[in-house]
Amino acid sequence: MKPLVVEGLSKSFGGLQTLCGVSLTLEAGERRVILGPNGAGKTTLFHTISGVHAPTAGSVQLFGTEVSRLPPHRRARLGLGRTFQITNLFPELTVAETLFLGAQAGRAERLVFYRPASRSREAMLRVEETIEQWELGEVRDLRVKHLSYGQQRQLEVILAMTGRPRLLLLDEPTAGLSPAETFAMTRFLQGLDRGITILLIEHDMDVAFDVADRISVLYFGEILTEGTPEEVQADSRVLEIYLGESTWKGVS
Ligand SMILES: Nc1ncnc2c1ncn2[C@@H]1O[C@H](COP(=O)(O)OP(=O)(O)O)[C@@H](O)[C@H]1O
Ligand SMILES: [Mg+2]
Repeated sequence: MKPLVVEGLSKSFGGLQTLCGVSLTLEAGERRVILGPNGAGKTTLFHTISGVHAPTAGSVQLFGTEVSRLPPHRRARLGLGRTFQITNLFPELTVAETLFLGAQAGRAERLVFYRPASRSREAMLRVEETIEQWELGEVRDLRVKHLSYGQQRQLEVILAMTGRPRLLLLDEPTAGLSPAETFAMTRFLQGLDRGITILLIEHDMDVAFDVADRISVLYFGEILTEGTPEEVQADSRVLEIYLGESTWKGVS
């Protein structure tokens, strides 16, 4: 069963069409990168897959279930985990407390504070397991605000994994990172369990090429091209978009 099948997905805000007939199919265990310049519609695609936005047209299937009309928490229960482009950690909580909230929420979309005691015990075990797996022992009692920005972004990915997702959506995990932090994040992403299928939104071409099995290039709400990193790299249109963008950045 395919983790994700998106067919003819469109989304308009008022008169503005942000997504125009996007189709994608992910194989189990695949690392797919959605690469595209700012404003291409990447985050909108994400929100439409996770259920934050209802599509104007088209369908989304998660593990064989049509979910276009299901709310985010129902999609989460089917095994969808996600992070947000803007960091959404609580700065005053410690790393362990953050993971505890994530583990308690399980596959629910929101962090919920009140749960039965058995659920809490389960969550505590999950926290310990996660701390061990990611070697977070030294930072477990640090407040999130005292972590580096790069560590915070990694914690967000780890947090999304406490719910044991089968499909993980990551929205620009390298946004705002320094080159050294970007390198660390790239390594971290490369090391994630292949049992999890990953859809990664990326603005940075180098990260995309280092992590992806396949890349879909989104441009003005449409898939411009899809292929292996080598195929996409050889596509002159992709280079044009990025050269155009850097020129634009250069003059602004
Ligand atoms: N909630 C919204 N309401 C109106 N317009 C939106 C909304 N979300 C995104 N857009 C518009 O859709 C376009 C694509 O945005 P977005 O999906 O955030 O792009 P990306 O993530 O690729 O940078 C932008 O022009 C943006 O202004
Ligand atoms: Mg975005």
